[in-house]
Amino acid sequence: MSKKTLQPPRGTRDFYPEDFRRREWLFDHFRSVSHRFAFEEVDAPMVEHAELFTRKAGEEIVDQLYHFEMHDRHLALRPEMTPSVARMVMARAGALRMPARWFTVSQNWRYERMTRGRKREHFQWNMDIWGEPEVTAEAELIGSIFALLDALGLARGDVKVRVNSRALLEESLREGVLAQRPEAFEPLCIVIDKLAKIGPDPVIEQLTNPSGEIGLSEDSAREVVAMLSAQTLDEAATHASANSPALADLRRFFDLLDAYGVRDQVVFDASVVRGLAYYTGIVFEAFDAGGTLRSICGGGRYDSLTEKLGGKAIPAVGFGFGDMVIGELLEDKQLWPDLPRPLDDIVFALGETERPAAIAVAQRLRGESRRVEVVLGQPKLKRAMADADRAGASRIWLIGPDEAQRGVARVKDLASGEEHEEDLNA
Ligand code: HAM
Repeated sequence: MSKKTLQPPRGTRDFYPEDFRRREWLFDHFRSVSHRFAFEEVDAPMVEHAELFTRKAGEEIVDQLYHFEMHDRHLALRPEMTPSVARMVMARAGALRMPARWFTVSQNWRYERMTRGRKREHFQWNMDIWGEPEVTAEAELIGSIFALLDALGLARGDVKVRVNSRALLEESLREGVLAQRPEAFEPLCIVIDKLAKIGPDPVIEQLTNPSGEIGLSEDSAREVVAMLSAQTLDEAATHASANSPALADLRRFFDLLDAYGVRDQVVFDASVVRGLAYYTGIVFEAFDAGGTLRSICGGGRYDSLTEKLGGKAIPAVGFGFGDMVIGELLEDKQLWPDLPRPLDDIVFALGETERPAAIAVAQRLRGESRRVEVVLGQPKLKRAMADADRAGASRIWLIGPDEAQRGVARVKDLASGEEHEEDLNA
């Protein structure tokens, strides 16, 4: 076997016990915040029909699909959770109590170009609200993101959420440069999402490409890019009509954020459009305030995804929050807690004759929900004591011939060094 075969595939991770403890600590927070916001957990298969993900708007995520043919089926590892959850909602659309509040913690696969905080598999916490058309849902989600950041120990100001509205952009473009071709809106969003990454000139080049789907004139393309520079709602309002519903939604959304106590952590930024085609309304992304990392989470309203998948339209809004960028931020801020191996007691039989008594005491302690290791093999007492100390156990139970005969165990508290005897038949 080659050395390469013995490595995890590039961009994927092994989780050793210490890595796994961090992962579970983070996931426990995802779950605890979700429950505090009254969301229910769901799950779906990691492998789906590839067609569920192959949209035609030119999104990167479609080119990054891990997919394969098997028994005449074209299957793919999910790159994101949203289409799977949409499929599940559609299957129960008539019977679900709406609004439905669902969350997932799932592994996703994207053949990405890797940078800090971006790999080819990652876990995502998703929270989605189905069946609620009002921005009260968006505000609830932003509230939950900050509840998570608080729980992880991040300070207010460490993370900023940037918000825009695709609906606002669409309203302006439909009255202007896209008046004749509204269908170009989705591919246009995918192109302008790259603005921060590739800069204005390449974006203008793609918007004006005569053989592309968008085909704007140079002046129109420059006008679109100029619209994206608005940094306040009032500035954005200058491009919108006075009675714009999208603008009214944004204003209400910001007012609601006040009630969640997070209004000052959220800024309007017209350049946030997101790189997924299905968003239709408010969109948002969270970034570290230092601006050194990629997006911590992203989401928005996507009211027509179920319709695109062949069902009736169901209003929906949600976000995906990855495990990697937040991991980097916790590392930078030295906020990862010490996570010792979960172990309470070690039970050591000095000889094989005493092993049944050691197993019996371990079983009794396990029955009391203590986490107990029975020492396997026959190490020397000194080695067993040193191991117990290193492993972080709080007590070691020793049973030698003398103890077994008297029906007791010698119990040593590893922090204080104090010893006492416990009755094995108690
Ligand atoms: P997304 O922006 O593609 O949205 O991903 C959401 C988050 O997942 C990102 O902000 C990042 O934290 C993490 N993420 C994405 N790709 C990678 C990667 N290659 N490596 C590490 N982390 C990554 C979605 O996936 C939408 N489905 C979210 C959503 C849910 N929208 C509505 N509901």
